[in-house]
Amino acid sequence: MQNPWWHRAVVYQIYPRSFADADGDGMGDLRGISAHLDHLACLGVDVIWLSPVYPSPQDDNGYDISDYQDIDPVFGDLAGFDELLAGVHARGMKLIMDLVVNHSSDEHPWFAESRSSKDNPKRDWYWWRPARDGMEPGAPGAEPTNWGAAFGGPAWEYDPATGEYYLHLFSRKQPDLNWENPEVREAVYTMMNWWLDRGVDGFRMDVINYISKDTTLPDGPVRPGIAYGDGSASYMNGPRIHEFLHEMHERVFAGRPQELLTVGEMPGVTIDEAKLFTDPARGEVDMVFQFDHVWVDRGADPWQLYPLRLTDLKAILGRWQAGLADNGWNSLYWNNHDQPRVVSRFGDDSPQYRVRSAQMLGAVLHLHRGTPYVYQGEELGMTNAPFATIADFRDIEALGQYVQAVDQEGRSPEDVLTVLRARGRDNARTPMQWDASPHAGFTTGTPWLAVNPNHTQVNAEAAVKDPDSVYHFYRKLIALRHEEPAVVYGDFTMLLPHDERLYAFTRTHGDTTLLVIGNFTGETVRAEIDDAAAWEAAELLLTNAAAPEDLVLQPWQAVIYRRISR
Ligand code: NOJ
Repeated sequence: MQNPWWHRAVVYQIYPRSFADADGDGMGDLRGISAHLDHLACLGVDVIWLSPVYPSPQDDNGYDISDYQDIDPVFGDLAGFDELLAGVHARGMKLIMDLVVNHSSDEHPWFAESRSSKDNPKRDWYWWRPARDGMEPGAPGAEPTNWGAAFGGPAWEYDPATGEYYLHLFSRKQPDLNWENPEVREAVYTMMNWWLDRGVDGFRMDVINYISKDTTLPDGPVRPGIAYGDGSASYMNGPRIHEFLHEMHERVFAGRPQELLTVGEMPGVTIDEAKLFTDPARGEVDMVFQFDHVWVDRGADPWQLYPLRLTDLKAILGRWQAGLADNGWNSLYWNNHDQPRVVSRFGDDSPQYRVRSAQMLGAVLHLHRGTPYVYQGEELGMTNAPFATIADFRDIEALGQYVQAVDQEGRSPEDVLTVLRARGRDNARTPMQWDASPHAGFTTGTPWLAVNPNHTQVNAEAAVKDPDSVYHFYRKLIALRHEEPAVVYGDFTMLLPHDERLYAFTRTHGDTTLLVIGNFTGETVRAEIDDAAAWEAAELLLTNAAAPEDLVLQPWQAVIYRRISR
């Protein structure tokens, strides 16, 4: 397939719980989304990715699914889903679903059967193991491996009914499915085909590079000061991952006439692995979400904040651009429901520079080669939230990690809170800010998570009215991708790799070259690039401040120039 449609596409992620509440229960829902589709159509996005809306005990806000083929009543029902899908298609957009099949909910009937007895036919659908050799089942430290779970505590839960443990890489209510069992794979493919037959346009696949595990399940290394071992070498990009994804592709996607999109979320994926995953000839997935650039400000101590080094960020993204230049394809993102707000993280969310720095970050990201993802509220420059105490958080990850760090590892609550305030996932999950009214027009009830008080200034209604807003700047970036082939196909060359202040690169396609520069500081900075005079005279396609003179960029300014050589 030469030049698939999704090379030119921009995807918008909706976190339904926090997007728009039509029935006043404080939780977003499908009718709320349907009512706001014009906001997305006007922004110009091509695809909507819907975070999970399936029946779920909501232990991890829907990433714990108890029925893969229905809609949770809190979000609506299948009829409401079909209406939403029709509304999306009527506006020329597509809709992809979240596929969460590394684990199910412990309340899924599959797991209820599996845990019921050792000889139940579904016993082997999950990872059951006896206590560690020579240890009393259920005793402290008797877990089959030393692995920690992502949300704190051990990765194994003891189940007294059968005296064994089940594996859960996330919460204890998210038991891992055993992909070694062909019946599990069959059930997943059947479910996926059911959604595609219903008209959905593809899937975003949750931690999909975790589904193949080293079946010997060895202990993992333990870092100083951390209560549990790190088992990731046994499940990140495991031994059968390519086989499973290819099989899925053959059983679900190959031969379908629709234009579909698949993107695999893959923490810890390497460039070499990503080349294999996204090589069209191998039939696995269209693109992956890698994590290197959002882990750029992490270090050895998980409870310390490390400042951004722009040269590191450029080195990482530059490597990914080069790595997938000839084969495969990148996804591009700053934000999603698991990441803090980018304007607060890499920009400046003060009233003076919030808009300008959010626009600059958008320009830099969208001008890379790959498919950009916009997370709800990013197009408004929404910021991190002012969480005062741990009681303000709702996220199972923040709450679970807090308990482990403070109670088990003896860290100071204030240090842990400082990091959660900067990095916690609830920053992304505060309700969408539609207008300046109480609760930001998100709900008429009590929102499940407090609305950011800055909604009186930062909201969609104000942004749509203001031609200089983040929203209109994103609209122009998306339009530029649709109009200018160099944005989609151009070769990427990083400039100024050692500069800590400017992010600069060119994109070249045929006789067109684009120059992109983003100022990552609150100072004016001159771009010392070759050919500066010619660029200065070139067509300025887009900027978020006055046209620079002599390539001197204002604080947080972005510029996109175009030259055509004949
Ligand atoms: C990744 C999802 O994006 C995150 O929100 C979730 O908690 C984990 N996978 C577990 O499903």
